[in-house]
Amino acid sequence: MRTTLFQISYSLHEIRQAAGRFIEATSGYTVFAFSGEMGAGKTTFIHHICDLLQVEDAVSSPTFALINEYHYTASAQQDKIIYHMDWYRLKDAADAINAGMEDCLDVAIKGGALCFIEWPEKAIELLPVPYLWISIDTIDIHERKMTIEVVS
Ligand SMILES: Nc1ncnc2c1ncn2[C@@H]1O[C@H](COP(=O)(O)OP(=O)(O)OP(=O)(O)O)[C@@H](O)[C@H]1O
Ligand SMILES: [Mg+2]
Repeated sequence: MRTTLFQISYSLHEIRQAAGRFIEATSGYTVFAFSGEMGAGKTTFIHHICDLLQVEDAVSSPTFALINEYHYTASAQQDKIIYHMDWYRLKDAADAINAGMEDCLDVAIKGGALCFIEWPEKAIELLPVPYLWISIDTIDIHERKMTIEVVS
């Protein structure tokens, strides 16, 4: 079942504020599937979320890594992991399992990590319910529309 949580439109000028609203509205979820065409702004938005969560590590573009691991301090001084995954170059779910994606998702299910996934369509069957499906649509060169749905 899919239920829309909220929709938001933003320019790059407003993206930090949008990322802040996103964090507030999605608290408690640990698996985030970011869907959108090439250049839609998946990486850009994820970087802003990481920035607001005060990720300690330099947040790099995942272009050359299938999995990037970052750390941040959650409330109650807990060290939390963020797995930023790019499934673009994966063929299918078997390929994703071989690349260690399921292990990252397991940590997220247990509440020890957040998983941000670009190109989740490549292995959609691996996503553990409930998860969030985030669609980013290009309105024009500056404006994006994001729809966040709960899949349960
Ligand atoms: N409102 C906006 N939100 C996000 N990105 C924007 C916006 N307006 C313009 N952009 C630009 O769009 C581009 C988005 O690139 P980004 O690498 O984030 O896309 P992506 O969805 O991760 O692509 P890929 O599928 O190749 O990984 C950037 O150059 C960014 O500056
Ligand atoms: Mg990207």
